[in-house]
This record gives sequence, C-alpha cells and structure tokens, in this order.
Amino acid sequence: MSDRHSSFKPDARRIEKFYQNYVDVMGQTSGWSSPERAYKVYEICSKSPAQTWSTFDSVLDVGSGEGEFFNFLKERRDFSGKYTGIEVFKPFYETSVERYGDHPDTEWIYGEFLGHDFGDRQFDWLMALGTFSSRQDHQEEYDFQLCQKMFSLAKKGVSIYLNDLHNSSPPERLKKVPDICLHDIPRFIEKVEKNFPVSQTQTLSFSLNPPASMAIVHFLL
Ligand SMILES: C[S@@+](CC[C@H](N)C(=O)[O-])C[C@H]1O[C@@H](n2cnc3c(N)ncnc32)[C@H](O)[C@@H]1O
Repeated sequence: MSDRHSSFKPDARRIEKFYQNYVDVMGQTSGWSSPERAYKVYEICSKSPAQTWSTFDSVLDVGSGEGEFFNFLKERRDFSGKYTGIEVFKPFYETSVERYGDHPDTEWIYGEFLGHDFGDRQFDWLMALGTFSSRQDHQEEYDFQLCQKMFSLAKKGVSIYLNDLHNSSPPERLKKVPDICLHDIPRFIEKVEKNFPVSQTQTLSFSLNPPASMAIVHFLL
C-alpha cells in the first residue's frame, strides 16, 4: 500500500509549543521529566515478547525526540536493524542528529508524521512513545489518523504509549498540565480493534513517580 500525505493537518505549532514549554520547565530531557524516567519508560514499553528486537530489520519511531530510544534499543535490546525516527520539534531533532546522526543504521527525519510521505516503505515495528500525549482540537480524529498511518506502515506491530484518563494518581498532577492529552484507554483500544487488522492486543498499565498512570498498548498484526 502506498502512503500519501494525510489530508488531516494537525496543528504542528501547538505540538512544538507544548514541548518548548516542557523544555523550559524540565530542561531538555527527551520530553520526559528526567533521563532516568525516560529510560524507565523505554524498559517497560519494549519488553513484550512480540517485540523480538534482535530479529527486526526496521523500526519507525513516531515522535523520536532526541533519539534516545534508538540508543536504548541498541544497548539493551540487541537491536541491529535500521532505525528511522521522525520528529517535529526542531531542538529535539537536532539533538538526535548530533548524538546519533553518524550511526550508519539511522535515519532522522525532521517533520510532522501525518504530513510526511513514506512512499511504499514499511517497517517491522512502529513505536509512539508520547506522540499521542499533546492535545489537538479534534483529538479523536487526530488519534484515528495517526493510527491509520501507523498501521499502514507496519508489518508486524505497533506500540502506543498513552496517559490514563481514569487512573490518574492523586493529586492528579497530569490533568493540570496545559495541553496534555489523557486517554480513555479501553475506548481507544476498542476503536483501534474495530478499524484496523489487529490479531492481538497486549496492554501493560503502569505507574511512575512523580505520580502518573499510563499504559503501553501493543497491537500485533
Ligand atoms: C514525550 S516525547 C518522547 C520522545 C521520544 N519518543 C522518547 O521517548 O524519547 C514525544 C515526542 O513526539 C513528538 N511528536 C508529537 N507529535 C508528533 C507528530 N505528529 N509528528 C512528529 N513528531 C511528533 C514531540 O515533538 C515529542 O518530541
């Protein structure tokens, strides 16, 4: 299936502003509150038995931040395939190129995922770690378009990280963050399973300190 630009245009400026505010408050730590937290998220989100990293030829990271998940996969998951990252926030993109641009098995794309044409390419596995977490006006439509494109590009599976709307830990810290998007996770999964050729769904809910409840959902094709 050939990929075309999606007609749905998210407000890319709003995503960039969200991450600029985040960096202003937290520092430049891959869009997570600390590098340690980022690596905890990577550990939890990459341990499904379906994610046979050492056998994968290609991975597409949608919203690849500063490229740290590539480094994690290489060092801790024995991944030796080709890694493509696409990132819309320029300071993060530039850091990923500075850090890992010389690595021959990487490709770093600066741009918004729905607006980028991948042609006929497909990837063994797609990851979205945080990409669904900044709010858009038409959130359900945006989520649907992101999923549609991710599923069209995936050969074996897709993993999506979501902040949990219903299990936000007290004092509901995340709900106070401007423009953060929390999801009704069962509803999200139901919609994906109804519309895309999913053979199995694996959901792993988890919490981290400072308090936040979240889940990684693996959709196997
Ligand atoms: C929470 S950060 C995590 C970055 C990286 N995935 C990691 O875990 O280290 C989410 C990233 O997704 C990027 N992003 C969000 N929506 C995007 C889109 N539609 N196209 C490209 N990048 C996007 C953001 O700019 C941000 O850098």
